[in-house]
Amino acid sequence: MVDVILGLQWGDEGKGKIVDYFAPQYDIIARFQGGPNAGHTLYIEDKKIVLHQIPSGIFHQNTLNIIGNGVVLDPVTLKRECDAVAAFGIDVKKNLFIAERTNIIVPTHRALDKASETSKGLEKIGSTLKGIGPAYMDKTGRNALRVGDLLDKNFTTQYIRLRLKHQKLLDNFHFDEDISSWEEEFFEAIDFLRSLNIVNGEYFINNHLSKGKNVLAEGAQGSMLDIDFGTFPFVTSSNTISAGVCTGLGVAPQKINQVLGVTKAYCTRVGSGPFPTELTDETGEELRRIGNEFGATTGRPRRCGWIDLVALKYTCMLNGITQVVLTKADVLDAFKELKVCTAYNIKGEIKEEIPFQMARIKMEPLYKSYKGWNIETTAIKGAASLPANMLTYIQSINEYIGAPVKYVSNGPAREQIVVL
Ligand code: GDP
Ligand code: IMO
Ligand code: MG
Repeated sequence: MVDVILGLQWGDEGKGKIVDYFAPQYDIIARFQGGPNAGHTLYIEDKKIVLHQIPSGIFHQNTLNIIGNGVVLDPVTLKRECDAVAAFGIDVKKNLFIAERTNIIVPTHRALDKASETSKGLEKIGSTLKGIGPAYMDKTGRNALRVGDLLDKNFTTQYIRLRLKHQKLLDNFHFDEDISSWEEEFFEAIDFLRSLNIVNGEYFINNHLSKGKNVLAEGAQGSMLDIDFGTFPFVTSSNTISAGVCTGLGVAPQKINQVLGVTKAYCTRVGSGPFPTELTDETGEELRRIGNEFGATTGRPRRCGWIDLVALKYTCMLNGITQVVLTKADVLDAFKELKVCTAYNIKGEIKEEIPFQMARIKMEPLYKSYKGWNIETTAIKGAASLPANMLTYIQSINEYIGAPVKYVSNGPAREQIVVL
């Protein structure tokens, strides 16, 4: 069967750590969407590593990792990352696979991303500028180059043709930066990519499934950044929800078993767009400081606020969440009072549903308050040792969202996780 781990908020919920924790239980770890906009942090032998393109199971010698067709792949980032994991003794030629239908991010996609964001001025999305939007536009526009095309002798001609199309768009944006050094890096990385295991992803996964192997699909971004259901237009360009697993890997819906949703015990967002429970006061600053909330991909400070249960219940519904992993619970250790948003006041009406256009309406979050636990929890190993006030806080989340919190993460290290 295929199990799924994905983010329930606006990304950076700690998916990387959680995938790394569960990886030994699976034969294959598969990324199904997104690209180098993702930054998944792992701690391996006390060293921090951030993965953007490679699945977070790569540090387990007996696990195969595949970049699925739903991903957009930047060869330059991939090459850099392969070098970084090789330093830990990992042989990517042995346990990393790339689906031939995966779409390639070319240098002009990054240029287009930048030009498009600049043209939006104050309305900008706050993109990571990794070329994600333009790359997915070329996929749906049926222009894209795919990993399988690398093996075609006409690849360079196809590339030049696409580049010319992009140049016209860049001219419209009056974009005149010199990107020749990006192209040089790109072609070096393309040669490297050709030397990796390029496979037919859908047969690779389904053949393993029919032999009884287990697959874990690793989501990037979060459900509130989903292209259809997120806070449009302040979203990413892929389906980040569990439905994306089917199209992003080529597996049928009946093959999907557990869907684990990862949420922080509070909430963060990086980039622009609506965030009803955002705290722009000292409490928000404290969350950022204690949680070290700075983007793993761009280093930007993350906006911080209380957990939003209305949004969480919505994303549990969209994904069919069977179990919840609550991360960064330890960040709340020092807070005297904790708040959870249970409804919105929209023009005097109390609403418990996500509206069509969060970006255009004023929403006031309505909170319930809980007492903090004010005990250091980072060394706790068993559920019985968790503070009573934390269990009350978790119980309130379970009741509201209708899905059980089964794991509490109490620190960034692999072993800092408590099973409830
Ligand atoms: P991802 O994109 O969902 O994989 O999350 P990121 O790696 O972007 O951000 C999560 C950050 O929180 C990383 O710096 C992790 O090392 C860290 N982290 C993960 N789980 C915990 C936890 O339970 N407690 C604390 N304090 N940090 C955590
Ligand atoms: P992980 O996998 C948090 C945000 C960007 C921006 C919007 C669109 O680490 O959780 P894009 O680059 O896709 O055009 O940006 O989405 N964003 C993320 N925020 N975590 C991520 O990934 C993100 N990937 C994109 O900040 O607001
Ligand atoms: Mg991240």
